[in-house]
Amino acid sequence: ARDSFVSGWQDRLHLLDSVVSTQEEAKKLAEAGAPEGTAVRAEEQTGGRGRMGRKWHSPKGKGIWMSIVLRPDLPLALTPQLTLLAGVAVCTAIREVTGVPAGIKWPNDLLAGGRKICGILLESCLREGGLHYAIAGIGISANLTPEDYPDYLQEVGTSLLIEGGGIPVDREQLTRAVLAELEYLYCLYLDQGFQPVKELWESMSVTLGRQISFRTAQGRSEGKAVGLDENGGLQLQDEAGNITSILSGEIEMI
Ligand code: BTN
Repeated sequence: ARDSFVSGWQDRLHLLDSVVSTQEEAKKLAEAGAPEGTAVRAEEQTGGRGRMGRKWHSPKGKGIWMSIVLRPDLPLALTPQLTLLAGVAVCTAIREVTGVPAGIKWPNDLLAGGRKICGILLESCLREGGLHYAIAGIGISANLTPEDYPDYLQEVGTSLLIEGGGIPVDREQLTRAVLAELEYLYCLYLDQGFQPVKELWESMSVTLGRQISFRTAQGRSEGKAVGLDENGGLQLQDEAGNITSILSGEIEMI
C-alpha cells in the first residue's frame, strides 16, 4: 500500500531561510486557515524550542528544522498518540533514506548509537475546550559535525552524519520521505485507529523491555517498560508485578 501512496503533503512545503522557530511560522499559517499537511522548513532557527522549555540547537544548513500543521478531529486525551505517530514516521524515513539504525525512546526521541539524533515537539492549540489544530515540530540533526555543537552540547551532540560513518544526508530527500511517511501513517491512523501505529512504535522502540527511571511529584520511581496503553502512555511494571502508565515526562533507561 505504501509504495503506491502518493504524498500530497510534499507540495505544501514552505522553505524559509532564517526564522525564530518554525513552530510559530506553522501556527501563523494554521491560524490563516492553511490545510492539514502544510509544512514549514527553515535553514536556521534562532530560537528553536525543545520539550520542557529547553532550547533546540538549529544551526544553518545542517539539519531538518520543520513544523507541520495537523487538524485531526480528536479528543484532547488522545493527542499523545499523534506524538508517537510522528516518531514512527520519522524513524521509518531515517532508516529508509540513510540506513542509520534509528530507534525510538519513549515518547518520541530518536536515538542512534544510544544518542539523540532527532527530537519531536507536538503542540496543541485549543478552541472551545477542544483541539483546534496541532503542530508537529521535527528537528533532525542531519549533517552536524562535532564542531557545530557549542560546549554545553559536546557530550550529547551527534547527528546522522556522525552516526552514519561520515556520509552526508540529502536533506531534500529525507524531508520528502518524512512528509510522505507522515501522511501515509496519519491517514492510516484516521482510518484504522491507534493499533497499527502502536504496533509499529513497539517494533521500533529501544525502551521496551528496559528498566526505566522517571521523576514523579513524589520523587524518582522505577519500573520495567512493558508496553503502550491505548492513549500512548508507557506501561511500567514494578517488582510486585503491578502495571501503571505514565503519560508524559522524561524517562531514563537504566
Ligand atoms: C525535543 O526533543 O525536545 C523536541 C525538539 C523539537 C525541535 C523542532 S525543530 C523544528 C521545530 N521548531 C522548533 O522550535 N522546535 C521544533
